[in-house]
Amino acid sequence: MVSARDVIIHTPEEISRIRIAAQATAVVRDELAKLIEPGMTTKDVDILAGRLIAQTGGRSSFLGYAGYPGNVCISVNDEVVHGIGVDSRVLREGDIVSLDVGVEINGATGDTARTVPLGHVSSQVEHLLATTEEALMNGIKQALAGNHIGDISRAVEQTAIKAKLGVVRDYVGHGCGIKLHEPPEVPNFQSRFKGPQLVPGMVLAIEPMFNLGTWKVKTERDGWTVRTCDGKWSAHFEHLVLITEETPEILTWPKTM
Ligand code: MF3
Ligand code: CO
Ligand code: CO
Repeated sequence: MVSARDVIIHTPEEISRIRIAAQATAVVRDELAKLIEPGMTTKDVDILAGRLIAQTGGRSSFLGYAGYPGNVCISVNDEVVHGIGVDSRVLREGDIVSLDVGVEINGATGDTARTVPLGHVSSQVEHLLATTEEALMNGIKQALAGNHIGDISRAVEQTAIKAKLGVVRDYVGHGCGIKLHEPPEVPNFQSRFKGPQLVPGMVLAIEPMFNLGTWKVKTERDGWTVRTCDGKWSAHFEHLVLITEETPEILTWPKTM
């Protein structure tokens, strides 16, 4: 891989491996979303995720990453990201569950997330989910060669501002593909820097995290689980996106198989 300034540009050979890992990651994400149901514990979900990941022929990119103890991240309701599956947390009808999955295969890795409602949720929560996913797609539309990281950040943030949602600032998107976290950072908010320019061969994990209330978050005593400071609910959607000469390729687009 070539590292130009503060970005990583992947070779065609790397990209073909990243594509395979990303597709496996998307399959696990969507299978999990289909299979989770009220009454399961988040530990059950993590064990199920471990089986689904093994079926792809890969391994979890998260397990052991900086000491992370789970196969996937499972973040419920006011939990934002990095929730760990535990026996004590039982999923209930009306919960929203962020499933964040990374599968490593043949030295490449995917990273993708979506937040799924368990049965009926309020229209306010439906709106939170729809807007966060819409912000992800608006960000992806800006993931064009010649644009800057800041163009993605602006599109994501504007979507939140219009919907009066809080934008998490302490966690950001990132380059990805060979390592789970590669430069550059992809913030979900604008700053006075437009950031690096986008070049074909860059692979970005774009991942808005929006809250019904404050943008402020805190980390639990378990050292991982991030939740909102005001207890209001949070949504998280993430795709892995390849910058091309033309329109971006969503490497974690749902697979029909
Ligand atoms: N999947 C997260 C992200 O989107 C990172 C999880 S790292 C872990 O960047 F260690 F918590 F698994
Ligand atoms: Co992720
Ligand atoms: Co990510």
